[in-house]
Amino acid sequence: MFSVTSTRKLMGRRRSVFYQDVINGLRASQKYLFSKYFYDEAGDRLFQQIMASPEYYLTRCEMDIFQHQSGDIAALFEGEPFDLVELGPGDATKSWHLLRELMRRKAPFTYYPIDISSNVIGWLEEKLPVSLPGIQLQGLNGEYLDRMEYVEHISQRRKIVLFMGANIGNMTMQQATLFCRQLHDRMRPGDLLLIGFDLKKDPRIILDAYNDKQGITRAFNLNLLTRINRELGADFDVAQFEHYPIYDPASGACKSYLISRIAQDVRMNDDEVIHFAESEPIYMEISQKYSLGETHYLARQSGFKGVREFYDSKKMFADILWERLP
Ligand code: AVI
Repeated sequence: MFSVTSTRKLMGRRRSVFYQDVINGLRASQKYLFSKYFYDEAGDRLFQQIMASPEYYLTRCEMDIFQHQSGDIAALFEGEPFDLVELGPGDATKSWHLLRELMRRKAPFTYYPIDISSNVIGWLEEKLPVSLPGIQLQGLNGEYLDRMEYVEHISQRRKIVLFMGANIGNMTMQQATLFCRQLHDRMRPGDLLLIGFDLKKDPRIILDAYNDKQGITRAFNLNLLTRINRELGADFDVAQFEHYPIYDPASGACKSYLISRIAQDVRMNDDEVIHFAESEPIYMEISQKYSLGETHYLARQSGFKGVREFYDSKKMFADILWERLP
């Protein structure tokens, strides 16, 4: 058990990166917050509700791919023993179908789910061996790139990396290119990378997914202000901010903002005052949508070549398999 003092010190240190990110974002001339901070306990629950909402098609589409095409995907992994590294597995409900298929085929692999949340890793380590008896599994808690280096360090086997759930969409295209290059640098020629992309489509379908009728996505965005109040001692009046998502069909960028309904001051930790003009936005999140051509370009730019594309039945979402080039 931690003593009260050491717990406070630990909290203080942990808080400081969050605090600094928030202060930097709210002091900027165009205010922003990082969407990675959406996921506290309440945020996790709200995200589960978003995924189950009628408008948020992404999860159902990717599930459709894994339920119906895991056999075809697994067939492309045949060969030498490998390490299957999943970045941000969540509860692994989609990859579970692929894992089951690989086990049915007696594929020689070890599954390494990597997640920033130790709860996620603990949960997977407890549950997967029950539903998939005999699975070789080592959960890794930490940052994706850092933990990938660790896997490379402990095992020389070929690597197959999964980065699903359209998580790549929460980066700008420029950030995505840099991230894919960093993955490339941690992989070897012939290694495989499977990425889930949400595709450009009818703009109304996309905008509705980020503006659901029940207001769950609105609550998901506003929850970050509540989190900042609770954890950083701020006094945001959440009712004075409005959720405002937009989608630009040309660039494929779906962006969420919180708009200040009135001119107001928000106090942070008693010593910092942030002023909001009436209608001033805070940029909260990007959910980038891709054309197929843009996914091909991203592959080329980051040192991969396309192997195969898997689509859901409505062709709204794609899981695309790339091979790492020499
Ligand atoms: C996690 N990520 C892929 C989700 C998305 O679609 O950008 C997060 C999300 N934000 C609002 N709704 C869902």
